[in-house]
Amino acid sequence: MNPLELAGARPGPAFGVTLDGRAIEALPGQTVAAALWSAGVTSWRTTRGGGSPRGVFCGIGVCFDCLVTVNGRPNQRACLVPVRSGDVILTQEGTGHDGLG
Ligand code: FES
Repeated sequence: MNPLELAGARPGPAFGVTLDGRAIEALPGQTVAAALWSAGVTSWRTTRGGGSPRGVFCGIGVCFDCLVTVNGRPNQRACLVPVRSGDVILTQEGTGHDGLG
């Protein structure tokens, strides 16, 4: 039994987003982090200093471990940002500003 069945959830139809160009499915009401987890992705950022992998740690917007680039905006907390159809999600290295301006 999966979590949707356990909760008796009846989400709307799935929609598509991409992670680094890879197509993944998301459900209405999910955060970006939940959509990535559902796709089997548990790490999507590396730290500035040591390049250590990061993903969700607190899950409530406090730790900033889950930073990700969404639709060209770096440093979005994946655990708080609702995922939207067509979102272009990119893994992030360091501050996420290396490719900007
Ligand atoms: S997991 Fe801690 S801020 Fe997102």
